Amino acid sequence: MTDRELMNIAKNASMHSYSPYSKFAVGAALECEDGTVFTGCNVENAAYGDTICAERVACCKAISEGRRDFLRIAIYAEGENYCMPCGSCRQFLCEFNPEMEVLCAKAGNRYVSYRLNQLMPHRFGF
Ligand code: THU
Repeated sequence: MTDRELMNIAKNASMHSYSPYSKFAVGAALECEDGTVFTGCNVENAAYGDTICAERVACCKAISEGRRDFLRIAIYAEGENYCMPCGSCRQFLCEFNPEMEVLCAKAGNRYVSYRLNQLMPHRFGF
Protein backbone atom coordinates (compact mmCIF):
# COMPACT_ATOMS: atom_id res chain seq x y z
CA MET A 1 0.00 0.00 0.00
CA THR A 2 1.29 3.45 -0.80
CA ASP A 3 1.67 6.20 1.78
CA ARG A 4 -1.13 8.09 0.05
CA GLU A 5 -3.47 5.11 0.27
CA LEU A 6 -2.76 4.68 3.98
CA MET A 7 -3.29 8.42 4.52
CA ASN A 8 -6.60 8.20 2.69
CA ILE A 9 -7.74 5.50 5.13
CA ALA A 10 -6.73 7.83 7.98
CA LYS A 11 -8.71 10.63 6.33
CA ASN A 12 -11.83 8.45 6.19
CA ALA A 13 -11.33 7.53 9.87
CA SER A 14 -11.16 11.23 10.76
CA MET A 15 -14.75 11.55 9.58
CA HIS A 16 -15.82 9.54 12.64
CA SER A 17 -14.00 11.89 15.01
CA TYR A 18 -15.94 12.94 18.10
CA SER A 19 -14.42 16.36 18.70
CA PRO A 20 -17.13 18.86 19.68
CA TYR A 21 -14.75 20.75 22.01
CA SER A 22 -11.64 21.30 19.93
CA LYS A 23 -13.42 20.89 16.59
CA PHE A 24 -10.15 19.34 15.42
CA ALA A 25 -10.85 16.03 13.71
CA VAL A 26 -7.99 13.52 13.60
CA GLY A 27 -7.84 10.10 11.96
CA ALA A 28 -5.18 7.42 12.21
CA ALA A 29 -4.44 4.32 10.13
CA LEU A 30 -2.03 1.82 11.68
CA GLU A 31 -0.60 -0.78 9.32
CA CYS A 32 0.63 -4.24 10.34
CA GLU A 33 3.23 -6.43 8.63
CA ASP A 34 0.69 -8.32 6.53
CA GLY A 35 -1.05 -5.11 5.39
CA THR A 36 -3.91 -5.23 7.88
CA VAL A 37 -4.91 -1.69 8.87
CA PHE A 38 -6.52 -0.59 12.13
CA THR A 39 -8.14 2.83 12.18
CA GLY A 40 -8.86 5.32 14.94
CA CYS A 41 -10.22 8.79 15.48
CA ASN A 42 -9.97 11.17 18.40
CA VAL A 43 -12.70 10.78 21.01
CA GLU A 44 -13.17 13.82 23.21
CA ASN A 45 -15.00 14.17 26.51
CA ALA A 46 -16.58 17.00 28.50
CA ALA A 47 -13.87 16.19 31.06
CA TYR A 48 -11.26 17.33 28.56
CA GLY A 49 -8.41 15.30 30.01
CA ASP A 50 -10.27 12.09 29.32
CA THR A 51 -9.91 12.65 25.56
CA ILE A 52 -8.19 9.87 23.64
CA CYS A 53 -6.13 10.60 20.53
CA ALA A 54 -6.76 8.89 17.21
CA GLU A 55 -3.39 7.08 17.31
CA ARG A 56 -4.04 5.45 20.66
CA VAL A 57 -7.55 4.42 19.62
CA ALA A 58 -6.09 2.66 16.55
CA CYS A 59 -3.34 1.07 18.62
CA CYS A 60 -5.74 -0.22 21.28
CA LYS A 61 -8.05 -1.63 18.63
CA ALA A 62 -5.12 -3.54 17.11
CA ILE A 63 -3.75 -4.81 20.42
CA SER A 64 -7.19 -5.97 21.47
CA GLU A 65 -7.42 -7.94 18.22
CA GLY A 66 -4.11 -9.65 18.94
CA ARG A 67 -1.88 -7.56 16.67
CA ARG A 68 1.36 -5.81 17.66
CA ASP A 69 3.43 -5.97 14.48
CA PHE A 70 3.10 -2.34 13.44
CA LEU A 71 5.08 -0.94 10.52
CA ARG A 72 3.52 2.41 9.67
CA ILE A 73 0.99 4.87 11.00
CA ALA A 74 -0.68 7.66 9.05
CA ILE A 75 -2.12 10.58 11.00
CA TYR A 76 -4.58 12.81 9.20
CA ALA A 77 -5.89 16.24 10.13
CA GLU A 78 -6.59 19.31 8.08
CA GLY A 79 -4.64 21.74 10.21
CA GLU A 80 -2.38 24.57 9.23
CA ASN A 81 0.57 22.62 10.70
CA TYR A 82 1.52 18.97 10.29
CA CYS A 83 -0.41 16.86 12.79
CA MET A 84 2.42 15.39 14.86
CA PRO A 85 1.64 12.71 17.43
CA CYS A 86 1.52 14.05 20.98
CA GLY A 87 4.05 12.94 23.59
CA SER A 88 1.72 10.36 25.10
CA CYS A 89 1.06 8.78 21.71
CA ARG A 90 4.79 8.67 20.93
CA GLN A 91 5.50 6.83 24.17
CA PHE A 92 2.50 4.56 23.64
CA LEU A 93 3.43 3.57 20.08
CA CYS A 94 7.13 3.17 20.95
CA GLU A 95 6.16 0.30 23.21
CA PHE A 96 5.45 -1.82 20.15
CA ASN A 97 7.87 -0.60 17.48
CA PRO A 98 10.15 2.42 17.89
CA GLU A 99 11.23 1.95 14.27
CA MET A 100 7.74 2.41 12.82
CA GLU A 101 7.21 4.98 10.12
CA VAL A 102 5.01 7.95 11.06
CA LEU A 103 3.23 9.93 8.35
CA CYS A 104 1.84 13.27 9.49
CA ALA A 105 -0.58 15.26 7.33
CA LYS A 106 -1.73 18.84 7.12
CA ALA A 107 -4.20 20.72 4.94
CA GLY A 108 -3.60 20.67 1.23
CA ASN A 109 -2.75 16.98 0.91
CA ARG A 110 0.75 17.47 2.32
CA TYR A 111 2.47 15.05 4.63
CA VAL A 112 5.86 14.45 6.19
CA SER A 113 7.39 11.14 7.23
CA TYR A 114 9.59 10.25 10.23
CA ARG A 115 10.78 7.21 12.10
CA LEU A 116 9.12 7.07 15.50
CA ASN A 117 12.48 6.94 17.30
CA GLN A 118 13.42 10.25 15.65
CA LEU A 119 10.36 11.79 17.29
CA MET A 120 10.85 9.99 20.59
CA PRO A 121 14.50 9.63 21.55
CA HIS A 122 15.17 8.48 25.14
CA ARG A 123 11.67 7.16 25.72
CA PHE A 124 10.84 5.76 29.11
CA GLY A 125 11.38 2.03 29.53
CA PHE A 126 12.59 -0.43 32.15
N1 THU B 1 -5.20 14.73 18.78
C1 THU B 1 -5.10 13.50 18.21
O1 THU B 1 -6.08 12.75 18.12
N2 THU B 1 -3.89 13.12 17.76
C2 THU B 1 -2.79 13.91 17.71
O2 THU B 1 -1.76 13.49 17.22
C3 THU B 1 -2.85 15.27 18.25
C4 THU B 1 -4.09 15.62 18.98
C5 THU B 1 -6.54 15.20 19.21
C6 THU B 1 -6.78 15.29 20.67
C7 THU B 1 -7.88 16.31 20.73
O3 THU B 1 -9.13 15.67 20.53
C8 THU B 1 -7.63 17.22 19.54
O4 THU B 1 -6.76 16.50 18.70
C9 THU B 1 -7.03 18.56 19.90
O5 THU B 1 -5.94 18.41 20.72
